[in-house]
Amino acid sequence: MQVRVTVNGTVEEHDVEPRQLLVHFIRETVGLTGTNVGCDTTSCGACTVHLDGESVKSCTVLAVQADGHEILTIEGLANGSELHPMQQAFHENHGLQCGYCTPGMVMAATSLLKEVPHPTEAQVREGLEGNLCRCTGYHNIVKSVLAAAEAGVPVAVSGGAG
Ligand code: FES
Ligand code: FES
Repeated sequence: MQVRVTVNGTVEEHDVEPRQLLVHFIRETVGLTGTNVGCDTTSCGACTVHLDGESVKSCTVLAVQADGHEILTIEGLANGSELHPMQQAFHENHGLQCGYCTPGMVMAATSLLKEVPHPTEAQVREGLEGNLCRCTGYHNIVKSVLAAAEAGVPVAVSGGAG
């Protein structure tokens, strides 16, 4: 089936299998490998991207369901060589160790701050409960998100070159 999906501001038109998952479309068809696959039970959140501005686990969506929609992946978050404030906050607060969960965490966290710009620690923990991390014990991830909120992460995050 032919799909037309805007990924980080670029229109991607491809012929896909009807059963292809969005995460495989992003990684294999489009070739953006920042979005990870960490489980086959839809529980880890490593595959989190934004679909029309909403955070989704891309292993739970079919590529054909994204037809006509906009996807933002971790690659679309930075502005050229300038890190997005959420990425900067993770960097400064040691919010990652192996980094496998990080793209999904960052995407989920930016989405969370869009809904709740100044969350409490409990709200951050609750907001990220769909994203698992095996390394950090979550403390520094929560600290990073609170720091990003404090710094004022842009509310509207959109795909594209800018
Ligand atoms: S790969 Fe684990 S939730 Fe999608
Ligand atoms: S930093 Fe290793 S899984 Fe989160």
